[in-house]
Amino acid sequence: MRDETLAIHGGYDGESTRSAAVPIYQTVTHELPDAEEAGRIFDLESPGFHYNRLNNPTNDVLERRLAALEDGVGALAVSSGAAAVYQALRNLATAGTNVVTSPELYGATYTLLAHGLAEEGIEARIADDCDPETMAGLIDEGTRAVFCESVSNPAGTVIDLDRLSELAHERGVPLVVDNTIATPLLLKPIAHGADVVVHSLTKFVGGHGVVLGGIIVDGGRFPWADHAERFPMLNRPEPAFHGVVYARDFPDNAYIVRCRTVGMRNTGPTLAPFSAFLALQGLETLAVRLERQQANARAVAEHLAADPRVAWVRYAGFPDHPSHDAVQRYLGGRAPSILTFGAQGGYAASLRFFDSVRLFKRVLNLGDTKSLVVHPASTTHRQLTPGDLEKAGIPADMIRLSIGIEHVDDLLADLDHALSAAVGEG
Ligand SMILES: Cc1ncc(COP(=O)(O)O)c(C=O)c1O
Repeated sequence: MRDETLAIHGGYDGESTRSAAVPIYQTVTHELPDAEEAGRIFDLESPGFHYNRLNNPTNDVLERRLAALEDGVGALAVSSGAAAVYQALRNLATAGTNVVTSPELYGATYTLLAHGLAEEGIEARIADDCDPETMAGLIDEGTRAVFCESVSNPAGTVIDLDRLSELAHERGVPLVVDNTIATPLLLKPIAHGADVVVHSLTKFVGGHGVVLGGIIVDGGRFPWADHAERFPMLNRPEPAFHGVVYARDFPDNAYIVRCRTVGMRNTGPTLAPFSAFLALQGLETLAVRLERQQANARAVAEHLAADPRVAWVRYAGFPDHPSHDAVQRYLGGRAPSILTFGAQGGYAASLRFFDSVRLFKRVLNLGDTKSLVVHPASTTHRQLTPGDLEKAGIPADMIRLSIGIEHVDDLLADLDHALSAAVGEG
């Protein structure tokens, strides 16, 4: 099946009730068939559903569908994108080790890496720029993962994943990629060497601003058994499961089986089945929403670029964007519908713009059917120091727009009105 079809039908065959929509299994437990099968389930010899912190039939469809879309071997749905980032990294990094990361990251990811992981004894090595060589230069014996956003939020930098995965693999380290902004319909990181892909489903996949969720997808290709010293957790007997050795006993999907049976079992950031259902509803229309959002975003970017009240515009679809070539190579020329700009008059003018929009929603989200506006330096990235902001590619006057699927003329009219207010016209 092609992506557009997979997004609607993947991972679901109508099951025993022949329900055309994926049913919501609102249950905590499933009956254990008998003591023998229960024992097999607890020894990880049988995959059956038993307790819904770990697995649920509705979530299972979402996991299969996203694994198929991302060319992965398995997936784990979690309660938010932040949970996906955290669980994905903690499945590999333990106290005394480090994670190497690109600097252009969503604010909460940045703070998790810069501060949160340190409390658990894990060092985050944040590169000075998004160049793969810069990041790879930080890898050493203690490195457990290289992490980046395939398309950074909000700067829109597209990482050279082919080169980064090559450099990481040369050093025996897996690449973990947050593919939230691109979605698997624009970019498949695993095809470019990534080993693990994470998403906030809260954004484009959910798409309507009604559900928080996250997913971790296992590419299934990293040779964990060849790096037993670096990844003891996947190569030594797991005491909680009678000595299971993940890399030996689950050679095709060791990473994601451990994520579920250790990370999820022990810490429990479960996605509610109703949330999985909402994410599945969103996924069904993702392809058509993306097309409309991208067309609207291009029209908005061109309109802003031609407006003398605008100081600068950064849109990955423009030839002057630093990632313009990478957009052709990695995204097939389809620039995401996120763009940033500054109003003439700097910080104060940009804030006046922010305060004056009527149709655009002042909302801390992106990828919605509705057009959204945010001022990152005072909100999503407020906790960053001026130096960190610069590293993350966020000037103080930056306004971020996430373009929705409204009629474009209504969007342009709202921008015109808010720009007038920004520069003190009328
Ligand atoms: C790129 C990216 N990753 C992760 C997250 C965190 O996702 P959530 O809000 O679902 O926890 C976000 C949120 O904006 C994001 O933009």
